Amino acid sequence: MNEFKPLPIQDSHRLINAGNVILISAQSKEKKTITTVAWHMPVSNNPKLLSCALANKRYSLELIKESKSFCINIPDFAMLDTVIFCGTYSGRTVDKCKEAHLTALPCSDIDGFFIAECVAYIECQLYSMVEAGDHTIVIGQVTCAHAKIHCFTPDGVIDINKVQLIHHLGGTHFGILKN
Ligand SMILES: Cc1cc2nc3c(=O)[nH]c(=O)nc-3n(C[C@H](O)[C@H](O)[C@H](O)COP(=O)(O)O)c2cc1C
Repeated sequence: MNEFKPLPIQDSHRLINAGNVILISAQSKEKKTITTVAWHMPVSNNPKLLSCALANKRYSLELIKESKSFCINIPDFAMLDTVIFCGTYSGRTVDKCKEAHLTALPCSDIDGFFIAECVAYIECQLYSMVEAGDHTIVIGQVTCAHAKIHCFTPDGVIDINKVQLIHHLGGTHFGILKN
């Protein structure tokens, strides 16, 4: 008996994409934006490269091209409303830092800022970009990473008993990891 049923191709990415949602922060000389991103992955260990797929029309992509850098911020479940807000409005028309009451602090290595309310952040220099359909894969080289003290176990993995990251299942569905 065949237990499988066909899925719409449109939904196929949801079978592989339940990683934790991140907030990409990017800035130009005058403007800042914070963009919610679910489509991301590590791509190299040496050098350490991380990537995310940004729709070609995203304001964040424009700012990343200008500043050649971006910051990956890790929100926890308490920030779900902020994640939805930053994933709904564009920085072209809304000052998301101000409207979402987020604290933007300057990064140490890159032309960018991190979000103090998040549990961790990773500073990235733009390494390369790959156009892929209606998105651009933005690859960043990590220059430094910081996490709040309670986030990691002594083995250096996220302590899911203390930090609940947000996993996007698709649409308005979100989940958390459980032991
Ligand atoms: C849960 C969630 C996940 C999202 N993931 C992505 C993504 O991976 N790539 C992307 O380009 N947009 C994604 N978006 C949409 C952008 O965050 C949204 O269009 C945002 O307003 C863009 O802001 P900007 O124009 O300032 O860059 C996501 C939105 C939500 C709510």
